Amino acid sequence: MTEADLYTLYKGVYVPNAVHTPESLKYYEEFTFRPDDIVIVTYPKSGTTWMQEILPLILSGGDPASVETLPNWDRVPWLEETRAPTLKLEERPSPRLFTTHFHYNMMPPSFFQVKPKVVYVMRNPKDVFTSSFHYYNISSFLVKPGPQSEFLQKFLTGKVIFGSWFDHVKGWLNAKEELQIMYISYEEMIKQDLNDSVSRIAQFLGKSLEPDVLKKIADKCLFKNMKNNPMSNYSVVPQEFMDQTKSQFLRKGVAGDWRNLLTPEEAQHFDAVFKEKMKDVNYKFNWD
Ligand code: A3P
Repeated sequence: MTEADLYTLYKGVYVPNAVHTPESLKYYEEFTFRPDDIVIVTYPKSGTTWMQEILPLILSGGDPASVETLPNWDRVPWLEETRAPTLKLEERPSPRLFTTHFHYNMMPPSFFQVKPKVVYVMRNPKDVFTSSFHYYNISSFLVKPGPQSEFLQKFLTGKVIFGSWFDHVKGWLNAKEELQIMYISYEEMIKQDLNDSVSRIAQFLGKSLEPDVLKKIADKCLFKNMKNNPMSNYSVVPQEFMDQTKSQFLRKGVAGDWRNLLTPEEAQHFDAVFKEKMKDVNYKFNWD
């Protein structure tokens, strides 16, 4: 099946029909934020699920009830997804937690008026590509990646779900200063002590937690522990939708796995495209 069969072009980017209906997209367009809402924003495969584990634990002061009983997509729902209009989000108590893969310029008017807090997670795009390559292969609602060189071309030109990684990151990095955005990278969370990242996120959210609570949260959110949480590892998704016998959703959880996939020529080409597309960006990415 091709893009024409499985995707809709919405505001210039592909979104998969199976999880984004015209109704859910309209619901998001008309959504009313509250000032104390918190939104996780990511380009797919950048650490969304990880943040969907960390944030609820911070807000609950380390109480694991929600991460152990609610699937991540109900716990921190995507506002653009088919399920959003059915979840009675208007009735949820503050502070509400949401997720979105939308580009900055796709956000609805209420977002810019109300200015809820945003945690923007970014990841080395070569690893995003690598993670996507495996993910597209196991998900029946996505176009099969095909040969690696073809998928690389699609990724670099934004012919994949949620469009261009470069545009996504650039758009959010150039967001208006009056918005409250915390930028954090997957690599910081992997390479440095996760305690430190959890502590910084808690500070951003205005939540003061004791060191032993921060440690408990960081421990719960380690890859090996999340992998065993059925509410976060997508094991409740039917196999015909996501075939985790081929590759798991929580696959490797490392930085730099692109080295096992990209040829030296592909990596070089990727770097050249990155340099060109990101030449006007003044942000010090910390993955190399
Ligand atoms: P890999 O495929 O490289 O393993 P998203 O949630 O945005 O779709 O991103 C999925 C990626 O984040 C996967 O990467 C997954 O393994 C990784 N991930 C999820 N939880 C993680 C954790 N606790 N530690 C490290 N990586 C994690």
